[in-house]
Amino acid sequence: MARDFIITKEHRRFKEFATAVRKDKTIGICHGEAGVGKTLSARRYAHWDEVGTFVDEWGPRTEDDAKVHATAHRCRTIFYTPEVLPRHKQIMTDIQHLQMRVGSCVDEHLRAIGKVTGIRVGDVTKLVELVIIDEAERLTPTALELLRDEHDRHELAIIFIGMPGIDQRFRHYPQLYSRLGFSHNYRSLGRDELLFVLERQWRRLGATLDMDDFTDAQAVGLMQRRVTA
Ligand SMILES: Nc1ncnc2c1ncn2[C@@H]1O[C@H](COP(=O)(O)OP(=O)(O)OP(=O)(O)O)[C@@H](O)[C@H]1O
Ligand SMILES: [Mg+2]
Repeated sequence: MARDFIITKEHRRFKEFATAVRKDKTIGICHGEAGVGKTLSARRYAHWDEVGTFVDEWGPRTEDDAKVHATAHRCRTIFYTPEVLPRHKQIMTDIQHLQMRVGSCVDEHLRAIGKVTGIRVGDVTKLVELVIIDEAERLTPTALELLRDEHDRHELAIIFIGMPGIDQRFRHYPQLYSRLGFSHNYRSLGRDELLFVLERQWRRLGATLDMDDFTDAQAVGLMQRRVTA
C-alpha cells in the first residue's frame, strides 16, 4: 500500500486533524463518504503497514527491529478495526494488547537512545498517545462508554472514523459528546486532484489520459460525478 499511496490534500488535512487530537489529548470524529480514503489515511498516519504488521507477527528479534521501534516512537498511535457485532470486552482487550505491544516498541527505542534506563519496565501502555478506531459505527453504547472512561482515566486521545452521520449518532451520548474536541469531514477529491490521481493510475497501467479525447473526458466526468455525489 505504502508504495501506491498518494499524498492528497485530504490526507494532509487528516494528518493535521490527527496531530491536533493527539496533542490536545482529546476525542475526535472523522466522517466521510465510502471510499474517499479515510482508512488509508489513518493507517498511513499510524504507519500501520510497518508497525501493525510488526506487532501482529511479534516474531523473534532481528537487526531491523530498531527501525520499527523508532517509527512506533515517532507516531505513538495504534489503529484498530472492531469486528462486525463486536463484544465490548473483546474490544478493550484487543486495544490493550496493541497498546502493550506498541508501547513496548516505544520503550525499546527510548532505552536505545538512553532516555530510559534501569531494568524496571513501567506501564508501557501509557507510551501510546492516540488510538484510531475505524468503522466506529460498529461500536455499541457500552463500548463507547468504556472507551470514554479510558480517555478520562489515562488522557488517551481517541479518533473515531465512520460514515457521514456518525457525528450525529454521538450526540446521543452526552458524556462522550461533551469531550469531543474535533469533528473532521473527510472530503472527496476535487477536480484537479482527481485528474492528478487518474493520470498517475493511467500511467501505471501503461496508458495516457488525454482530456481532449472525448471518451477519456467522459470517463473522468463520470468519476467526478460519483465522487462528488
Ligand atoms: N491517498 C490515496 N492514495 C492511493 N489510493 C487511495 C488513496 N485514498 C484512497 N485510495 C483508494 O481508494 C480505496 C478506498 O480507500 P479507503 O478504504 O481508505 O476508503 P474509506 O474512506 O475508508 O472507505 P469506507 O468508508 O468504505 O471504509 C483504496 O483501496 C485505494 O484504492
Ligand atoms: Mg474505511
